[in-house]
Amino acid sequence: MVEDKHTSGKAGRGMFADKAGKPLPLAMQYDYTNFYFGSGNDPFDMLGPFDEWWKDAEPAGYYLYGLPMQGEPGTRVDIRNTKTGKIHKNLLNFASYNYLGLSYRPEVKEAVVKAVEIYGNGASGSPILSGSMEVHVELSEQLARFKNKEAVLLFPTGYSVNVGVIAGLMRSGDLIVADQYAHASLVDGMILSKATSRFFRHNKVEDLERKLKKFTGKKLVLVEGVYSMDGDVAVLPDIVDVCKRYGARILIDEAHSTFIYGQNGRGVAEHFGLEDEIDLHVGTFSKSLGGQGGFLAGSQQLINYLRGFSRSRFFSCGLSPVVTAGILKALEIFEEEPQLREGLWSNVIYMQKLLREAGVPIGQSESQVIPILIQDDARIFEIGEELLRQGIYLNPVQYPAVPKHKSRFRMSISSTHSRQELSEGAKIISKVLERYGICPSQPDTITSKRG
Ligand SMILES: Cc1ncc(COP(=O)(O)O)c(C=O)c1O
Repeated sequence: MVEDKHTSGKAGRGMFADKAGKPLPLAMQYDYTNFYFGSGNDPFDMLGPFDEWWKDAEPAGYYLYGLPMQGEPGTRVDIRNTKTGKIHKNLLNFASYNYLGLSYRPEVKEAVVKAVEIYGNGASGSPILSGSMEVHVELSEQLARFKNKEAVLLFPTGYSVNVGVIAGLMRSGDLIVADQYAHASLVDGMILSKATSRFFRHNKVEDLERKLKKFTGKKLVLVEGVYSMDGDVAVLPDIVDVCKRYGARILIDEAHSTFIYGQNGRGVAEHFGLEDEIDLHVGTFSKSLGGQGGFLAGSQQLINYLRGFSRSRFFSCGLSPVVTAGILKALEIFEEEPQLREGLWSNVIYMQKLLREAGVPIGQSESQVIPILIQDDARIFEIGEELLRQGIYLNPVQYPAVPKHKSRFRMSISSTHSRQELSEGAKIISKVLERYGICPSQPDTITSKRG
């Protein structure tokens, strides 16, 4: 086990206990934050101490992430537990962002296969050089039409949209104010821009106002449509009101709300009738459309400018034409089948009701993103493994994705889950959480253990 002298933390052996007073295993007395800063002159100085801790933490099952899935991200999946080597079969999958089941639709697969015959695999160049193909142009045009905006810029990932757009627009001496729960890609964009960065308390417009009021100069406000770790929605009408009063531009990241919210699925901005009040509309292809990549939609002038200043786009290879063709087909299906979205909403309402009735703590979620609040950083991996054994695949989320002591499972509901799968899932989850004292006593409905 690591010695204290190696780390910035003060943890000694056996010092910490979990909420129930049980002493924490040694591996759990440290976390990644203990290995961030260290003395010495070699950038590799932290590798040794980290490795010593990791040798304890990994086999103990802490940070049990990235468990390989054996097939497509459907509602039932086979998952390899990297700690035990065992493949857990036919688990109920509540971990994938495939909200509309579009990643594996046969028509999407067919479009992907056709595109690979035409274009091969990669774009083999930056989108401003040789990496733009006809399929990229077609997707940009279709998206601009769908989003009802003059133009769209495609990026290789949703992450790179935020980094490239924010740093492409804002400079040292400007002010960026983000909701405190803003995604890491928004935060990294703030850092890269070198603008003065501030955060306002989650959805608290009075705090946003305080931060905007004090500043004279260029101002940009960053919010999400649906918050990725809590599933609640931005209080957009109030945010727009404050931003207008103080002359701030607004970027909305609709990674989890495009194709879900609004009458036509254009997102939370459409839902509130505020699309024209928002200056920068960000979306991803990695969630509802089941692909990869992201986009910015806005005015033609904005897109023309950022095409030349979004370094995360033009210093990176273009989106794979194969994936692009799959996204194009997914968009077409989405527009032809409103029942996908209707099915998702009906599932969300059903599942939220089941979980709330069983006393599962799901916070303020209003959407298909449902946090299951464990708030015990020490035991969440143990609970996650028990869920695997009982037939459920859910991912633990810990610091830095959420604040310390706010650990949770991040559940995703899909339109493709059947009612039977949802009720089975809710029963197993509440029963497992009951054993850990997180849920009240449940009716005894689970009989068999899965392997
Ligand atoms: C709000 C938000 N923005 C951006 C991203 C990054 O998107 P991508 O995974 O497509 O890079 C995510 C990813 O989860 C997200 O939740």
